Amino acid sequence: MAQSWSLIVGVIGILFYIYHNNSQQSVEESVVLNGTYDYIIVGAGSAGCVLANRLSEDLTSTVLIVEAGGSEEENEVMHIPALPGLPQNTKQDWAFRTIPQKKSCQGLKDQRSAWPRGKVLGGSSSINYMHYIRGSRHDFDGWAKEGCEGWSYKDVLPYFIKSEDNRIPRLKNSAYHGTGGPLVVSDSMATPLPDRVYRWGMEELGYKTVDCNGESQTGFCFGQETVRNGERWSTAKAFLRPAMIRPNLHVSTNSYVTKILIEKGKAVGIWLVKDSVKYTIKAREEVILSAGAVNSPQILMLSGIGPKEHLSSLKIPVKVDLPVGNNLEDHLMLLMIFRDNTSSGFNPSDWADLQYKLFRSGPFGKVHLEASAFHGDDKKAPPYFQNQFYILKANTRLAKDFENNFNLNPQITEGVFKFYKNMVEKNEGVITASNILLHPKSKGTIRLRSADPFDPPLIDPNYLDHPDDVKDFLKGMQEMLRLSNTTAFRSIGASPSDPYLEYCPPCNSLPYPSDEYWKCRLRHYAVTVYHPTSTCRMGNDNDDTAVVDPQLKYTLLLSFIRVKGISNLRVVDASVMRHVTSGNTNAPTIMIAEKAADMIRGIDSVKDIRKKTEHL
Ligand SMILES: Cc1cc2nc3c(=O)[nH]c(=O)nc-3n(C[C@H](O)[C@H](O)[C@H](O)COP(=O)(O)OP(=O)(O)OC[C@H]3O[C@@H](n4cnc5c(N)ncnc54)[C@H](O)[C@@H]3O)c2cc1C
Ligand SMILES: *[C@@H]1O[C@H](CO)[C@@H](O)[C@H](O)[C@H]1NC(C)=O
Ligand SMILES: *[C@@H]1O[C@H](CO)[C@@H](O)[C@H](O)[C@H]1NC(C)=O
Ligand SMILES: *[C@@H]1O[C@H](CO)[C@@H](O)[C@H](O)[C@H]1NC(C)=O
Repeated sequence: MAQSWSLIVGVIGILFYIYHNNSQQSVEESVVLNGTYDYIIVGAGSAGCVLANRLSEDLTSTVLIVEAGGSEEENEVMHIPALPGLPQNTKQDWAFRTIPQKKSCQGLKDQRSAWPRGKVLGGSSSINYMHYIRGSRHDFDGWAKEGCEGWSYKDVLPYFIKSEDNRIPRLKNSAYHGTGGPLVVSDSMATPLPDRVYRWGMEELGYKTVDCNGESQTGFCFGQETVRNGERWSTAKAFLRPAMIRPNLHVSTNSYVTKILIEKGKAVGIWLVKDSVKYTIKAREEVILSAGAVNSPQILMLSGIGPKEHLSSLKIPVKVDLPVGNNLEDHLMLLMIFRDNTSSGFNPSDWADLQYKLFRSGPFGKVHLEASAFHGDDKKAPPYFQNQFYILKANTRLAKDFENNFNLNPQITEGVFKFYKNMVEKNEGVITASNILLHPKSKGTIRLRSADPFDPPLIDPNYLDHPDDVKDFLKGMQEMLRLSNTTAFRSIGASPSDPYLEYCPPCNSLPYPSDEYWKCRLRHYAVTVYHPTSTCRMGNDNDDTAVVDPQLKYTLLLSFIRVKGISNLRVVDASVMRHVTSGNTNAPTIMIAEKAADMIRGIDSVKDIRKKTEHL
């Protein structure tokens, strides 16, 4: 009997395997490249894939997109939502490390933070945690106020909607969301806890339950994720692959761009290295840099666009003196852990594995980042939001992340890994509440290590340099401690116990839970949430901190007089953000690319959506 069952299951499995593989569009990269294109896009990440799709919609222009990494399909686990941390430190990850930090990362190996970035089609959207958060309306209104004309909330909302295919039933009638776009957004709910416990706990603390991507971001919200039918929906899947059938789009993978070719103040092409061979490819209209917040500034500096003194010290001829690589902003996160008496939430079993293989459903089909909350005052001017909280159940995945991804010192990795593993084995509950500081005052830099394009750049996020950042973090910690002591949380036996206590010298010698203890935890064990932005920030013509203007082009500033910079060159990715947004950065990066595509094409593709959203 058992045998015939497994035979039936096996046959169904094979049928589904064939079905899934046929329904996948497996278009291959272009083999033969042309010498000239109208547009060259550097980097097939969150922004680059959107641009490749939108620019090639116009069948009269030719487009080349160049990516240093390979296909996202080479990684066998990249599509599984429940295992988003696994692609880190593989071939598909640049696996950067920051320079040793002075006031943070003290419990990390060499005081260096791991800085993963996707090196693959889809870029960081192929290795991220898929949480979909657009940012607050005040973020974009703030950008506009600081000189980024055309980037207010009213201006950008139509582009968020244009991209989206929102499949969450409770948001069906929301004017803030779109359907029918390439980017599928689905519900993160994987266990009953967000609805049964988290929500009520937050409401006890005075938070309203809201759609964080809707009218007001302040409050508690059920998670939304870029997952389609149980698979990661990277921008490679959503935007690039459907466009790869167009004859006017070429895709070149494993192609490392080393420099922008500049002639007489005009970007005319790129240099790239593929299979150890150097190529020059020309652009008739524009070169668009979408290599992300680390590599876009790196490529600019290698091309002679950057801080004069820095370039001169490396003997790189200076073409334009601009603050490239300055103003780096990133989010730092502190994980707080509470025990509870519900089950472990995500307990991978053979059945779960089979269920996923057959139907793309079950626990493997969700990210398990089930809820977020935003703390702050939505009515106030900046800094409107102080903190974001993720609330999730411990599971094997967090154990793995601790083991592999945070670059923690071996002692704490082993301790916390053991703690999580033990909980999972005994099927005991742990709730992890992450506290994220949304608007840090500390700013960092990206600099070149050398003039060699294959040398990884020097990344200095300068975390916790500004004393206010520590103070603002503490407010978030107090909030999460209060959450663990609400009636809702106490009803599942939650206690603000902290397993780090056992394993985290020197903090464990301090009284728990004192401010001193939390400050120590913060300086030793806070980790990045992977949201670097603003290294080629946008600003108006007489802003000497800006690298690009609101058209995302180059401006050169000399004593408040605008001098012609480099023409035919744009930057379109997370590096142009005026400031890091209040939340995760994939959705706003996609929005930036959608808007830039319209600017480049000189069209207004969102007229109709704008009419419908003007009153919002
Ligand atoms: C581990 C992780 C988890 C995250 N979790 C979330 C989340 O849950 N939700 C969320 O919204 N955001 C998340 N983010 C952030 C989000 O994914 C990024 O902000 C976003 O993807 C940035 O897009 P981008 O286009 O600026 O850069 P990227 O997507 O990084 O794209 C840059 C591309 O350029 C390529 N490139 C770089 N240099 C060169 C070169 N010299 N030649 C050719 N190609 C080059 C890269 O290989 C890459 O493909 C996460 C990020 C990481 C790394
Ligand atoms: C490549 O070049 C050929 C020959 O000139 C041309 O027909 C084709 O349209 C070009 N394709 C792209 C994507 O540039
Ligand atoms: C938890 O809440 C109860 C009453 O609501 C209060 O008496 C107690 O002091 C709180 N405990 C902590 C650790 O804050
Ligand atoms: C969890 O703890 C609460 C509060 O102590 C208790 O009421 C509940 O019965 C416990 N549930 C289980 C499954 O142990």
